Amino acid sequence: MSSRKAHKGSIRKTLLLWLLIPLVCLCSLSAFVAYRLAEKFANESYDRLLLKSAESIASRLGRNEAGVVVVDLPRAAQAILRHNLKDEFYYQIADSYGHRLTGDAILPLPQDVSDAGPRFKYVEIDGQQIRTCRISVAVSPSDDIIWVQVAESLNNRHRFLEQIFLSILAPQLMLVLLASLSVWLGVKHGLDPLERLGNLLKSRGELDLSPVEIGETPAELEPVSTALNKLFANANNHIHLQRQFIGNAAHQLRTPVTALKTYVDYAERIKDTEKDTLDTVLKQMSEASSRVAHMVNRLLSLARSEEHDRKDIENMDLTEAVNDAASNVVHEALSRGVNMEFDLPETPVMVRADRGDVVEMLTNLFDNAIRYTAPKGFVEVKIEQGEQTTLTVADNGPGIADSEKEKVFQRFYRIPGTNGSGCGLGLSIVGEVASTNDANVDVLDRPDGGTIFRVIFPAVTNNAE
Ligand SMILES: Nc1ncnc2c1ncn2[C@@H]1O[C@H](COP(=O)(O)OP(=O)(O)OP(=O)(O)O)[C@@H](O)[C@H]1O
Ligand SMILES: [Mg+2]
Repeated sequence: MSSRKAHKGSIRKTLLLWLLIPLVCLCSLSAFVAYRLAEKFANESYDRLLLKSAESIASRLGRNEAGVVVVDLPRAAQAILRHNLKDEFYYQIADSYGHRLTGDAILPLPQDVSDAGPRFKYVEIDGQQIRTCRISVAVSPSDDIIWVQVAESLNNRHRFLEQIFLSILAPQLMLVLLASLSVWLGVKHGLDPLERLGNLLKSRGELDLSPVEIGETPAELEPVSTALNKLFANANNHIHLQRQFIGNAAHQLRTPVTALKTYVDYAERIKDTEKDTLDTVLKQMSEASSRVAHMVNRLLSLARSEEHDRKDIENMDLTEAVNDAASNVVHEALSRGVNMEFDLPETPVMVRADRGDVVEMLTNLFDNAIRYTAPKGFVEVKIEQGEQTTLTVADNGPGIADSEKEKVFQRFYRIPGTNGSGCGLGLSIVGEVASTNDANVDVLDRPDGGTIFRVIFPAVTNNAE
């Protein structure tokens, strides 16, 4: 089993990030827009107040007898204007030529006089930013323009903005916090069934393959639990079949092994007294050990045919495999006087399969045909090429009844009454090899009596080299 752990983060974290990052971005954007709007309104209202101060100073302008502009701004009135705990207040009166008449000299004199105003500007004095408002008035009786300029530092504006900003930010932060909490709770709740499933699987015993029940399964988890239960059912079934197989194999092996043991004991006892019988006993011992060897070989072949990972599927010549399989059984055919005929194309017949598997399969089919046909019977092996490649092994033996045609592929199954020492595994190996090599095998009746085993290999595609 692989111990590879591919942690790709947690679902909870991913969900939280995907939900919270857009939420925080949205809140930041809305806070920024709200701040800009608040700044605009705060500036407008502070500018209006500044304009009012400029207008109230302008309303106090007059001319003395000499026609010189004077401002009637007693100390008390100035104190009211300047009365502000946080901000500095400045004012300045200048004539149309840009000469300061009265007020704070620290303020820059009007420069661009083409614009009658009111005009607002940020100006820096003494390293501090201030906001100025300039208006023009005519002080009768002359039409000459008089510039009234007022200014204030920005402490109050900033404080006001800070307050507005905080009053926007606080609910936004609360919103993000509450949303995070509810998202976290929601995600936790949503992932609960997954956690339950994990705990359930962790807590069960190693060999417990019963279906998992996690109560109310959410729709998203339904395919997982269904697939898990299907997997468990398959594994269960597989284990059951394996146990059955081991039981059968042990049973089959026990008979010849027990016989062997009995013969050995018997031979021990008679070796000095009954020399004539000893030969017979030795012959029987040899037969029993052959049966054990045959059975063990069959079991090994079956195990090999089941191993998908060890397959070496390649483009291979089927006629070569037929020749190899034939050389494996030629001795048996000769000793039984069975005539083997081959009807094979002269050019190679390519199929995609594991070469060892195909030779094993054909050896089993030839072996059966030779064993179960009548003495001096015949076996005919034929390859036909069409869209698919078809190989047939025909014999003129007793044939296989329809009711037995499927059963003969079962493990350890032998048709009742079958002679000879077989263990009923040959055709299971054939079936297994066919299925792991994408081939198909079936049994047909030979029209003139006997059996035909037919193996169909799929067409070899050009790119499957
Ligand atoms: N060509 C055939 N003609 C008639 N019966 C056959 C033929 N091939 C197989 N059978 C029947 O099918 C049964 C199963 O065959 P299978 O090859 O699986 O086992 P086996 O030949 O008995 O033993 P082994 O495992 O040694 O091959 C045989 O016992 C026989 O009854
Ligand atoms: Mg057989």
